[in-house]
Amino acid sequence: MTAELAERATERAVDAHVQIATADGGWTTVCGVAQLVPGRGVAALVDGEQVAVFLDRDGTVYAVGNLDPFSGAHVISRGLVGSRKGVPVVMSPMYKEAFDLRTGLCLDGDDQAVALPVHEVRVRETVAAEVV
Ligand code: FES
Repeated sequence: MTAELAERATERAVDAHVQIATADGGWTTVCGVAQLVPGRGVAALVDGEQVAVFLDRDGTVYAVGNLDPFSGAHVISRGLVGSRKGVPVVMSPMYKEAFDLRTGLCLDGDDQAVALPVHEVRVRETVAAEVV
């Protein structure tokens, strides 16, 4: 690319990916942000464990364990996303318990606390130069 062309090039984000922290301290890319539908989840395999990834309607990405502790089924990614008193939650499709997407804590019932594991998640944008 000539200097002149380089000057005319503009940077724009062409892609953004969801990454989840791995046990060895690294990050693994699980999907493109564009593949996530706000309010719906996808299941991904990270370190051999199923993770449910959600895009909130405000654009925040969450990752929690996909295993429903009450039914023993890997169904959390199929849960409904919403909010309860301002807390972003996913409701298990099995028995409808609500889990706080930020902490994994179950918000229903008054017995001992049950929580989904929470995975550290980040969005990384791939920026490419585009000649205009
Ligand atoms: S029903 Fe959710 S912690 Fe008991």
